[in-house]
Amino acid sequence: YLPAPERLSPALLAAANEELASTLEHHGYAPHGYPPLQEAIAEHLTSRGLPTTPKQVLVTNGAQQAISLATAFLVQRGEAVALENPTYPGAIDAATAVGAQLIPIPTGMDGARVSAIADILANRNPKLVYLNPTFHNPTGTVMPDAARAEVARLIERHQVVTIDDRAEAELTVGGEPPPPPIAAHAPGAPILTVGSMSKLFWGGLRVGWIRAPVPLVSRLTGFKAVLDLGTSLPGQVVATHLLHDREAVRRERRQMITPRFHLLEELLSELLPTWSWTRPKGGLLLWVRLPSGSARELAVEARRLGVAILPGPTTSPDLSFDNHVRLTVSRPPDVLAEGIRRLAAAWDDYAPRAEGRGELEVIV
Ligand SMILES: Cc1ncc(COP(=O)(O)O)c(C=O)c1O
Repeated sequence: YLPAPERLSPALLAAANEELASTLEHHGYAPHGYPPLQEAIAEHLTSRGLPTTPKQVLVTNGAQQAISLATAFLVQRGEAVALENPTYPGAIDAATAVGAQLIPIPTGMDGARVSAIADILANRNPKLVYLNPTFHNPTGTVMPDAARAEVARLIERHQVVTIDDRAEAELTVGGEPPPPPIAAHAPGAPILTVGSMSKLFWGGLRVGWIRAPVPLVSRLTGFKAVLDLGTSLPGQVVATHLLHDREAVRRERRQMITPRFHLLEELLSELLPTWSWTRPKGGLLLWVRLPSGSARELAVEARRLGVAILPGPTTSPDLSFDNHVRLTVSRPPDVLAEGIRRLAAAWDDYAPRAEGRGELEVIV
């Protein structure tokens, strides 16, 4: 997560306050969300290639609530949820919290493997599929448009609700903007296009959304109302103002993040030359492969030196990837540089113990 951009200034907060004051006559309950924000989100998604009306939008307390809401609504204990392997840990937590059986979807440089999704939909009866095809957490990959079209056709055929999590989708690093959301290929299919203010703007707003066909949005809105009667209005008013500035903020974020990735890659090449990675297309994360040893063990060593890294198994529905760590560029360059120096020191301490282990795990 990044700190708030300068645009989230006292002046903007004052403007939002003024706008809010004019709504105080109203009782303030808006289970779907603050209507001007629903409109701004619909306009945003339309500009990303997914034509959307405000009625198709449910405002949530961040993307995390969107994921956990959909999971709790759709999945009973013992039923299956399919997720990419690796994936965003918050999605694993949401599925685990309802007692779901987790089905890992193998994932490569082009995101989730479409043939695996087809096989799971045909044979494993999942109640929900969770995908993060745009600047995937943790690998930073993007599912190409043709694959998105195929996935959309599969969802249409099997009618299995599928989350397209776009929480990091605005954080392009250099390069091309990503393709439109999966739902652009199947507007009526049961696809929940999830988004968030957190990465581009600020996590403290706790504002996210679900975009879906109206009947599905209505059912989810009813369920959300049971839980919270709606998301707090002040944050939504601020979010509405900020969304109108999104292109400028997007450029600023890109200018902030891109050199941090360069710095991180330079330092890793210099200090940890045996580690390997593929440059991500966007997001805030670098998914790094260790030459040997256990990421979980290394994370303990690193923690001792004051560095927090996420070991691969935390991102994995079947606890694999103990040969990977997830690093982030969310801290400023000086902190990032110090973090990598300490991580290199942790590795120097740990590496002799790791030698010869890693590829093979002996289970007794
Ligand atoms: C892929 C993904 N989904 C969801 C979230 C949660 O975001 P929010 O702060 O909007 O709840 C994150 C945040 O790390 C994320 O990376």
